[in-house]
Amino acid sequence: MNQSMTCWAVVPAAGVGKRMNADRPKQYLPLHGQTVLEHTLTRLLNANVFTALAIAISPEDPYWPTLPLASHAQIITAAGGKERADSVLSALTSIRHRAQAHDWVLVHDAARPCLTTEDIHLLINTLRNDDVGGILALASHDTLKSAQHGQILGTLNRNHIWRALTPQMFRYGLLTEALTSTRGNPAITDEASALEIAGYHPKIVEGRPDNIKITRPEDLALAEFYLEQQ
Ligand code: CTP
Ligand code: MG
Repeated sequence: MNQSMTCWAVVPAAGVGKRMNADRPKQYLPLHGQTVLEHTLTRLLNANVFTALAIAISPEDPYWPTLPLASHAQIITAAGGKERADSVLSALTSIRHRAQAHDWVLVHDAARPCLTTEDIHLLINTLRNDDVGGILALASHDTLKSAQHGQILGTLNRNHIWRALTPQMFRYGLLTEALTSTRGNPAITDEASALEIAGYHPKIVEGRPDNIKITRPEDLALAEFYLEQQ
């Protein structure tokens, strides 16, 4: 890593996990001997590239304070917000006195515990000299249809379609501005979309397919399988 480059990690972990339909938010479900969130944070810490990790936690969350990582010297907690973008902005705000505008921020979903060091380093090394930044993404292998009311309207050109993953890597100043100016816009479902609306064209970096987001109950078994394989 370049000596002059500072990287921060931001982890939105304040969701309720509605689609998971479990007895607690999905980031606290057990996976391979630890909670999902502990896997995610450990992977970020082990990459050895971040000055600190800023984690957005719901103010009503009773689980976070019980985890040993809650008192880790490199972890800063911030209050989560209503939407994912609000949580990310809150975490960014929590490091405002320490972060410089040109510092890099990697935003990574708490619900993606299978992220590898390899992908973190690939993203950083690909984008380190970029002006804007970019995201890990996956090419689509399926033929993709657009449809309405159960009827196909057409076939999308697969060459132009990518599935957005995290981490998403942007400059601290630019990301904070983009998320602030698009606040409340329901179309902002990841960091890149905020930058796109601001007129930028973030880069695509092809990531590993095992970097899944735990969304539905069956994803937990799949994550368990990937962790064993890695
Ligand atoms: N997240 C957050 N603050 C919110 C909503 C989501 O920090 N207000 C986080 C989640 O904890 C998760 C990540 O953003 O790590 C990706 O969101 P998603 O997979 O949608 O998680 P949930 O919103 O918890 O799940 P669901 O949409 O099924 O309720
Ligand atoms: Mg959600």
